[in-house]
Amino acid sequence: MEGLRLWILLTLLEGLFYLLRVERWRSLTAMSSLENLSHEDRIFPPSPEFVAQANAQTSLYQEAADDRLAFWSRQADYLHWEKKWDEVLKWEVPSAQWFLGGKINATYNCLDAHVIAGRGDRVAFHFEGEPGDTRTITYAQMLHDVKKATNALIELGIRAGDRVAIYMPMIPEAAVAMLACARIGAAHSVIFGGFSAEALKSRILDADATLVITSDGGFRKGSAFPLKPVVDEALAGTDHNVKNVLVVKRTGQETQWSAGRDIWWHEIVDRQSPEHIAQGFDSEQVLFILYTSGTTAKPKGIFHTTGGYLTQTSYTHRAVFDLKPETDVYWCTADIGWITGHSYVVYGPMINGATQVMYEGTPDSPTKHRLFQIIEKYKVSILYTAPTLIRTWMKWGEEFPADSDLTSLRLLGSVGEPINPEAWMWYREVIGGNNCPIVDTWWQTETGGLMISPLPGVTATKPGSAMAALPGISAKVVDDEGNEVENGNGGYLVLTEPWPAMLRGVWGEPERYQETYWSRFPGKYFAGDGAKLDDDGAIWLLGRVDDVMNVSGHRISTTEVESSLVSHHNVAEAAVVGANDAMTGQAIVAFVILRGGIPKVDGEELIKDLKAHVTKEIGAIARPKQILVVAELPKTRSGKIMRRLLRDVAENRTVGDSTTLADPNIMKLIGEGLKSGKSED
Ligand code: WT7
Repeated sequence: MEGLRLWILLTLLEGLFYLLRVERWRSLTAMSSLENLSHEDRIFPPSPEFVAQANAQTSLYQEAADDRLAFWSRQADYLHWEKKWDEVLKWEVPSAQWFLGGKINATYNCLDAHVIAGRGDRVAFHFEGEPGDTRTITYAQMLHDVKKATNALIELGIRAGDRVAIYMPMIPEAAVAMLACARIGAAHSVIFGGFSAEALKSRILDADATLVITSDGGFRKGSAFPLKPVVDEALAGTDHNVKNVLVVKRTGQETQWSAGRDIWWHEIVDRQSPEHIAQGFDSEQVLFILYTSGTTAKPKGIFHTTGGYLTQTSYTHRAVFDLKPETDVYWCTADIGWITGHSYVVYGPMINGATQVMYEGTPDSPTKHRLFQIIEKYKVSILYTAPTLIRTWMKWGEEFPADSDLTSLRLLGSVGEPINPEAWMWYREVIGGNNCPIVDTWWQTETGGLMISPLPGVTATKPGSAMAALPGISAKVVDDEGNEVENGNGGYLVLTEPWPAMLRGVWGEPERYQETYWSRFPGKYFAGDGAKLDDDGAIWLLGRVDDVMNVSGHRISTTEVESSLVSHHNVAEAAVVGANDAMTGQAIVAFVILRGGIPKVDGEELIKDLKAHVTKEIGAIARPKQILVVAELPKTRSGKIMRRLLRDVAENRTVGDSTTLADPNIMKLIGEGLKSGKSED
């Protein structure tokens, strides 16, 4: 009897603790609650052992401040230039050119340079396929593969300046394809394998790609998913200029074949000569286009050029990840479909001769041990990942990392979204064994390379802060009028000087480039992020201030999801907000008004249908977590949807000030409507 009572008491207490934890968790991850950031007592200075061997020195800040352009020249000197530049920077707002007159080949720097210097035997990639197949690829092997792939592209008529779409799983051929394009000055446009046929189509058309490189499919969560059929669908019935589709055989799935257009990678690449001499291209040659979500429905084709981009990605990779190429094993978990995969899997690390891990699958397949086992197996020493994964690990519990030996780790990085102090501490203690500096790196598809981050071995870090602009970078926090705020205050993050890896424009839309980034604060780059300076001047990123959501570190436009919803025949109007989510940072919540005059539809069926519709239009990453059917949307008198109020509803808060609403009753109506239409999964 006593035992039973004790048991009940303990169970109740446990429940209570759980609830308290969840509550605290919710409030900590809510960006709006990062108001009290002016002071953080926990400060982690670098250990003397780390300082003694660090690549970065405190003097870097002074060097860059003394002469910024000379500083960047010295970083560019690490690269192999076929012809050295005549002028470091030409800057006329908003157009930057770096290392003018220089000639350089990106692939030569990633591969040939290492082989020529006798480092050909070094492992470039330890590849771990999702089903458990593995490959060890040296720099020499990679160069051999890239030369053959390059010759195949040439045979297919690809020339400098052409655009090549790459739609692939996370397999070595994806990197080979990118480097083969770069070798001949063709711009690659990588489209993440999770995007739908519609999304793929619009990107192929926008860049006017003439070749698509894909695979039959890839492996994910224990089974094969198709890619080639998605390419077929994207190209069907469209007026495009794609002459060929090059298909890597990965899964062995059956696929339709369009004779004359489709070619197996192994059939054309294997028979090529392994000889190819790389030629230097102009420093400002377009290296790649990468589409990212903006505030309108149409994604922006951010394009980057060669010399400046390679300079900044390799420099930041050396300084911030402290790479020791002979001994480190570096693992950036990003997919090649995102900028992180471009800058910190392909270009930065390969220029620096890093040995990397590349993994095809997800963290929970076949078990939640997978990533920890990979760290142990390859003795990963530098890990670079996203807060959403760290929070997922926290949810799973410490028993999973505890089962593997993670003591090879010596440095941890975070990217993609603000990292909440709890996740930062957990990362440090549980993954890093209290022994690894953490670099929280802020940057964007547009910035090309890291911009704000601690320097390991130099910076004393605070959990949750990206700390300071890197040497050579000028970041400021300004108020509405563009005036710099004092310590202890918040505002908008701006970049006040051009940087080598900055975007050179939005593909085909010069006005949009000017309008999006350079018009809010004339002469300054507007990042779209809120930020705060604490009492010591450390920078805390607070999330987006525009209509862009950040779900698991992926950028998704509210407008893009809205326009996809209204393209459904049952939807009259839609409003989409990013609601705080303990796991994914933000979650997509949609409010829809149904069309009148349609036959009565089953609520649950309809919501399922709408979610499937968005998945088809954009991809699974844009699928709303919740869709709420409402009778009206809250609008100002000028007709602007008040997303702030919808966010209150989506986050289960009391609805804030609604006095500017054209119809003050709306929020009440929405509240009532919710009871009938709420769905979540
Ligand atoms: C947006 C850029 C850069 C690679 C991945 C995302 C957010 C990124 C951080 C960070 C707080 C961050 C910003 C930024 N973001 N890193 N360390 N702390 N926020 O690239 O898809 O271009 O997204 O991601 O909001 O604007 P992206």
